Amino acid sequence: MSALLELAISIAREAGALQRERRNEPRTIETKSSAIDLVTDVDEASERLILERIAAARPDDGILSEESGTRDGKNGYVWVVDPLDGTTNYAHGIPHFAVSIGIERDETREVGVVYDPIKEELFSAERGGGAFLNGERIRVSTATELQRALLATGFAYDVHSARVDNVEYFTRFIKRAQAVRRAGSAALDLAYLACGRFDGFWELDLHAWDVAAGYLLVEEAGGALSDLTGGPPPRSGAEIVGSNGPLHPALLAVIAEST
Ligand code: IPD
Ligand code: CA
Ligand code: CA
Repeated sequence: MSALLELAISIAREAGALQRERRNEPRTIETKSSAIDLVTDVDEASERLILERIAAARPDDGILSEESGTRDGKNGYVWVVDPLDGTTNYAHGIPHFAVSIGIERDETREVGVVYDPIKEELFSAERGGGAFLNGERIRVSTATELQRALLATGFAYDVHSARVDNVEYFTRFIKRAQAVRRAGSAALDLAYLACGRFDGFWELDLHAWDVAAGYLLVEEAGGALSDLTGGPPPRSGAEIVGSNGPLHPALLAVIAEST
């Protein structure tokens, strides 16, 4: 394991422990882009901790982090950080959330870590080195039929007002797949796709910090990623279809159906 992956894992574990320890405290909750877009005191405390650890260990690296934006680096490395993915779950006491840390070098995904501090599940990957859950190699599922596929998705925080939302795709897939889950953490959705719990995933309007680690997990676990039309998956997370590979054409075909 590289020193860089070790560092990302130790930072993710530390931030996750903070989230676990503070989860039953009284919460300060504010809103961001809309009335349903929440940020808690623990999102902010986790982010402070993560950014401090990165700055101390690797002061020349760049950072793109959800709550505090971009810090330019000097060496081509960029840490793409969601300090707490699943904030709505966290704010409601639902034990399904994670720390997500992706590291890119010159725009290539190098390291991905997603840590669920409640289930104590640590998903990790390095480019070319495979994907792991608590140190055990993971692979995507082998499902080939949409009717037997468990899919995951989510809805953006502008869903109340957006003209283009995910409701139509959700309607299609719920009628065609075995089932669809909206579990509330895109980083864990991608990690679950990587380890074969989910067979497919799609979402609109995610951000780079939601997907940076999860993309690498899925790639290193043998899965497929694309935009909604089969092109390369945008780094921004603006649209994403992920699958075990064999199911990818079927997912894209449902998305391509005209309304
Ligand atoms: C959210 C979660 C959710 C997804 C939202 C994201 P946050 O991230 O990943 O599953 O549907 O679009 O914004 O706000 O909890 O970090
Ligand atoms: Ca997120
Ligand atoms: Ca977040």
